[in-house]
Formats: sequence, structure tokens, C-alpha cells
Amino acid sequence: MTESASQSRLVERILDRFLSEFGGTHPAGVFFAPGRVNLIGAHLDYNGGDVLPVTVDLGVYLAIRPRDDDRLCLRSVDQRDGIDARLGELGDSRRPEHGWGAYPFGVFRALAERLPRCGFDAVYGGDLPMASGMSSSAAIEVVTAYALDRLHGLGLGNRELALICHGAETRYVGVQCGIMDQFASALGRAGHALWLHCSDASFEYVEIHAGFDVLVLDTKKTRTLASGAFNQRVAECGEALAILRMHARSLPTLAAYGEADLAHAAPWLAGVHLKRARHVVSEMQRVARGVAALRVGDGPALGAALTSSHRSTAVDYEVSCAELDAITAAACAQPGVFGARLTGAGFGGCAIALIEPGSAERVIPPVRDDFARRFGVEPGFRVLAAGGGPRRVV
Ligand code: GLA
Repeated sequence: MTESASQSRLVERILDRFLSEFGGTHPAGVFFAPGRVNLIGAHLDYNGGDVLPVTVDLGVYLAIRPRDDDRLCLRSVDQRDGIDARLGELGDSRRPEHGWGAYPFGVFRALAERLPRCGFDAVYGGDLPMASGMSSSAAIEVVTAYALDRLHGLGLGNRELALICHGAETRYVGVQCGIMDQFASALGRAGHALWLHCSDASFEYVEIHAGFDVLVLDTKKTRTLASGAFNQRVAECGEALAILRMHARSLPTLAAYGEADLAHAAPWLAGVHLKRARHVVSEMQRVARGVAALRVGDGPALGAALTSSHRSTAVDYEVSCAELDAITAAACAQPGVFGARLTGAGFGGCAIALIEPGSAERVIPPVRDDFARRFGVEPGFRVLAAGGGPRRVV
């Protein structure tokens, strides 16, 4: 995998900032980790279900050099001010003044005991829209873990790195997410989707056949309240699971239940608990249909699963918003669009549309005009190229 012209320019900017901030002649290495879109399987990972992410060819770059002391100096090409801390100042959970630095710091905390020398100088830069449902946070975590692993010869496999990054996000950053984003970023394979079984963290690759293109639709609405609302969904699912265990049968995760269990527990399962459980149980069926369709390149069948997933995510899981509903509806109204859904946590950010191969130029203008008229914002568009996992660039 080589960098595009714009990615090479980004790497140049990162290197320039590195040398002007930290001096010397060059960093010890420049690394990359990708973001992802999730084709289908919304909010199933932390419920022990199956998900189907695809790694994108966009992500986060990191120029890094170990230090001989315990100082951690973070810079971003998008921000003038840096974030500096010493290992001893990190604490056990994120500190508000560290901002986005919580992601690298969480990873560093998890790896610190294995590192021979301690601190590092680092400059980050990315071409992934931030906080948009394409896993920019996981890409920051994975590129940090991958770089530390390679520079210090820790010999950790990518699966182990993904688990370490997931631990950093849940324990240090404090978002009770599932394993999907870190696994997708660390284990993505070009031209394939990752069919990840979150009940036991096993996975298989499913080749993406021609038959459709994936168009990413960026509403540009940032998800400001995401982590609070996200953790609330996790808690509600935990409560629904407890009700089902008591009144249906005892299974390990919410995704393991079926429609008959929900019917059995009907007198006790109501309100948000019923809605969340109904989404999880029905989404598992849609993932199964989606994987079968993906295997044979059946765009219309996969698209129908996507659209039905969006409806369930909006109505029963309540993580959509006006912008995501409008952009997916506008896309689905175009000829040659098989289906569309929000991707990522929801509450804003990106959606995806499954479209006839080569039809993006035709689909984009009416969707853009409709969205701009309603919200006064021009959305972003990009045809997905399924890139590979993390790598060393320089
Ligand atoms: C976020 C989380 C993931 C997953 C998705 C929803 O991206 O980080 O773990 O739960 O939302 O599918």
C-alpha cells in the first residue's frame, strides 16, 4: 500500500512539524493506522454480536521518537498547542485537560511496563474526518500501539495490540465501547470486510466482490454528546440482558437471544429495554443476511439490510439524528442506490450508501443539494477504497 499524493503531503507536514518542534534530523519512524466504516452490525459489538467493518484508506499518521526520560510530548498538525505530560501524571483515567491526548496516553499507560525507555516525542496528523463515525479515536490508539511495538521490538501481534487499545479506550478514556473499531483498524485487510464475532473476538475475512460501491456520506455534524449517550445505551442493554436472564433464559450476551425470548419476557421487557433488545436481536439477523449477500456481491440484498438497519437504529436504538435520517433518505431516493445507513455510533458523523458500481457522480449532486438546502451545510462524499491495516510508512 503506498500513499496517495495528498497523503504524502500530509506526511511531509507531519515531518516538518516534528523537526520544528523537537529538532534533530528525523523521527525514529512514521506509522499509519486506518479508520473504518461498519457495513452492518450497529451497536452489536458490546452486546456480544457480529459486526462487518471495512478498513478505509484514510487514517492517522504518527511521526515518533523515543525519549530517554519519562516525558510524553504530543503534537497535532491541526493544532498549535501541544499536550505534554510525564508518565507519573497520567493517572488511571483520562484527565480533561489532556483532550485528545487521552487516547495515546491510555495506550502508553497500558504498555509502559513493557517499555525499556519511557517517553516519546510525537506528531499526529490524519485525513480521516474526526469524531465522524469512522473510528478516528481507534486509529490514534492503534497507530500509537503499533509504533511503540515496532520501535521497542515488543513482538505483540496485531490482535493483541487491538485488545490493548480497546482496554485503553474502556478503562482509561472511559467509553464503554466494544472491540470493533480497534480490531478493524489493527486487522483490516485490503479488499475485504472483517466479519468479527464479538462474543469470542474471533473473525474471518469476507472478500468484497464487485457488484456495488460504498459511498461515504459525511453530514459534518460532530458528535458532541456521544460518549455520555453511548455509555447510556451500553447501560440500557445491560439492564435488558438482566431482565431477559430473569424472565426468559440465561444467556451470556444480549445478542445471543432470539425473538422468541423477547416474546417470552414480554410482560417484563418494556420501554427502552424492549426497544434496545429488539434492535440487537433483529440486527443480528440483518448481519447474517448482509454477510450472505456480501459473499456473492448481491448489492440489492445487502442494501436492503442496510436500510432496514438504519430504521432500527433510528427507531429502536435512538442514535440517529435529523441529519443522518435526511442524508440516508435522500440517498435511497436516487436510482441506483441499494440502501443506506448510519455508520459508527450515530448521533451525527457519517452514513454509508451502497450504490451501483461507478454511479457516485450521478448520485452525489441531488443528495448534496437536498442536504445543503435543509441544513445549510455541504456534506462530504467519498467512494470507499478498502485499505489494509497499520503499517510503517517511513
Ligand atoms: C462506536 C464504538 C464501537 C461500536 C459502534 C456502534 O464506534 O466505538 O465499539 O459500538 O460505535 O456500532
